[in-house]
Amino acid sequence: MTTGSPPSGYAEAYAAWRADPAAWWATKAEALEWQVKPRRAFDAEAGVYGRWFPDGALNTCHNALDRHVLAGRGNQAALIWDSPMTGRQVRYSFAELTERTARVAGLLAALGVRAGDRVIVYMPMVPEAVIAMLACARLGAVHSVVFGGFAAAELASRIADATPRVIVSASCGLEPGRTVAYKPLLDAAIDLSPHKPSACLILQRPELEAAMTAGRDHDWAEAERAAAPHPCVPVAATDPLYILYTSGTTGRPKGIVRDNGGHAVALATSMSMLYGVGAGDVFWAASDVGWVVGHSYIVYGPLLAGCTTIVYEGKPVGTPDAGAFWRVCAEHRVKALFTAPTAIRAIKREDADGALMRRHDFSRLEALFLAGERCDPDTVVWAERLLGKPVIDHWWQTETGWAITGNFRGLGLFPTKPGSGGKPSPGYDVRVLDEAGREVPAGTIGDLAVKLPLPPSCLPTLWNNEQGFRDAYLAQHPGYYTTSDAGMIDEEGYVSVMSRTDDIINVAGHRLSTGAMEEVLAAHPDVAECAVVGVHDTLKGQVPLGLVVLKAGVAKDEATLEAELVRMVRDRIGPVAAFKSARVVPRLPKTRSGKVLRATIRRIADGQSFTVPPTIDDPASLEEISALVAPR
Ligand code: COA
Ligand code: AMP
Repeated sequence: MTTGSPPSGYAEAYAAWRADPAAWWATKAEALEWQVKPRRAFDAEAGVYGRWFPDGALNTCHNALDRHVLAGRGNQAALIWDSPMTGRQVRYSFAELTERTARVAGLLAALGVRAGDRVIVYMPMVPEAVIAMLACARLGAVHSVVFGGFAAAELASRIADATPRVIVSASCGLEPGRTVAYKPLLDAAIDLSPHKPSACLILQRPELEAAMTAGRDHDWAEAERAAAPHPCVPVAATDPLYILYTSGTTGRPKGIVRDNGGHAVALATSMSMLYGVGAGDVFWAASDVGWVVGHSYIVYGPLLAGCTTIVYEGKPVGTPDAGAFWRVCAEHRVKALFTAPTAIRAIKREDADGALMRRHDFSRLEALFLAGERCDPDTVVWAERLLGKPVIDHWWQTETGWAITGNFRGLGLFPTKPGSGGKPSPGYDVRVLDEAGREVPAGTIGDLAVKLPLPPSCLPTLWNNEQGFRDAYLAQHPGYYTTSDAGMIDEEGYVSVMSRTDDIINVAGHRLSTGAMEEVLAAHPDVAECAVVGVHDTLKGQVPLGLVVLKAGVAKDEATLEAELVRMVRDRIGPVAAFKSARVVPRLPKTRSGKVLRATIRRIADGQSFTVPPTIDDPASLEEISALVAPR
């Protein structure tokens, strides 16, 4: 695929970063406009592991919008909304998007939002979701976007933790075959949360209007019309831009904090270095603003780089068919596309020979980027063969905000290896460690860890939980950030990410905690104990499977119980959990110290070979489980 390409400049770039990381990042910071130019790129004494651009001040919204208008690109498209769900398309120039964002910032300010205040954004894939985020950034307020597929209880836990002054939401979201009424979910979440916002701003969508709560809810359209535009408020580079909650090992989500300065510098760098795009190019991340991919590459990355971004309200298949992605690429002249492997697997399943793909002229597309879950080599090879373009797997996490490893179009690609996420991005010193923290030889699987300090954009801490940050990420291997991914680095420096080392599962590229699902199942009155494991799924990568042990004396029809458990997970975590199956088992296999052998259960359910752990309490329990859950 890269035969005939010029040699990659990756090694030189990585070496230049290694030789002097602070100087390397200081140069990258020059791509942005600062209210106060940072004199130092890094302060090793500040924060938990140091802070980036400690004495700089800037405004992220100014850099994403106003700066481009002032530079004469006001008429260029900044955002294209393409919504097969409604049959609509809308195009905003940088000037128009700046104008609307300034007005919405004005209306949020009129609702009392000041720099440092939190605003929760619970929105479907509409331009207003992006405008709300940028309007917060304009004010120096901290947004926290909650994915629309979460249930009221999940939203409530985020309201309680982030204590927002205002919540921005919409009357509904549109999923194929159903309209999701957001407003009742929002009302229920506010009821459940001990913290109440002082106001809610509601976008009424014509597909389903919401009933408003007098005195608290404000109609977006009316309020925007009445608002005065608000200028950008400069903030310290180290001030938080947003909090994004992500699944941790417990039911309690972790509030990943992103700062302003380091984030803007790293994302602007990634647009040219990794994705190979710049001002005037069209970049499409087919994700959702509720995920980190949406934050970084629907909103901030492309706009910081002066690209046109696409907000797509649709699916890879069924809206109307598996040619939808190629239609969008063709119509909007997309240069680089980023999506999750699941989306490509879904397309491959319905258009294996590319007949639908060939109906569209997407010759401007130069590369496909995949991340969010492990990508099976078959999918990479299929996409490369049919597209005839590089398919680049890259590895990252909500915590980092941009790629830990990848292949760098801006530096000249090196040959890809399907199954590997590429080589470390300049900025990351990736190592593989054994349980005792020793580096393992090339090709050996161990804990993937990043030597501290982390590069710009990575989380400086967890929201209101610095100890949690230290415990979850820094304690296991002192001097390193623990990624909670297991994998290996080969002799040539390619990194392969194999699995999580914790109880996080990746369902259709969505990060979910099996611990959180176990908490829900355990609350069922008939359940004595339970375990949830992620089992292999050819489309979604993994799907959750619940195993429950009933309380003594309970004799319940298994199908009824399963339906109740599925309903509970849907109601408490949300449809996104894709929890569809639960089995009753007589007991759970455990170690002598009482730890449930989840990894062994998962291997059994996947039909893989397994060794009986020497610490097992009763080997017969594994035979029972095999008989019930092993694929036939
Ligand atoms: N609001 C409300 N509900 C949502 C939602 C949202 N924003 N997003 C998903 N859901 C619901 C879906 O409607 C579905 O509900 P159902 O159980 O009633 O059918 C459920 O959550 C599970 O959704 P999903 O896992 O996405 O599966 P799906 O069967 O609807 O679609 C794919 C399958 C492959 C088309 C889909 O998973 C997909 O587009 N994946 C791409 C992954 C991606 O973009 N990941 C982002 C990280 S980069
Ligand atoms: P999220 O925080 O939702 O982005 O999920 C991050 C997790 O997804 C990582 O810790 C990995 O387990 C997984 N992941 C993301 N990208 C990749 C990739 N390219 N290859 C393998 N796993 C990945």
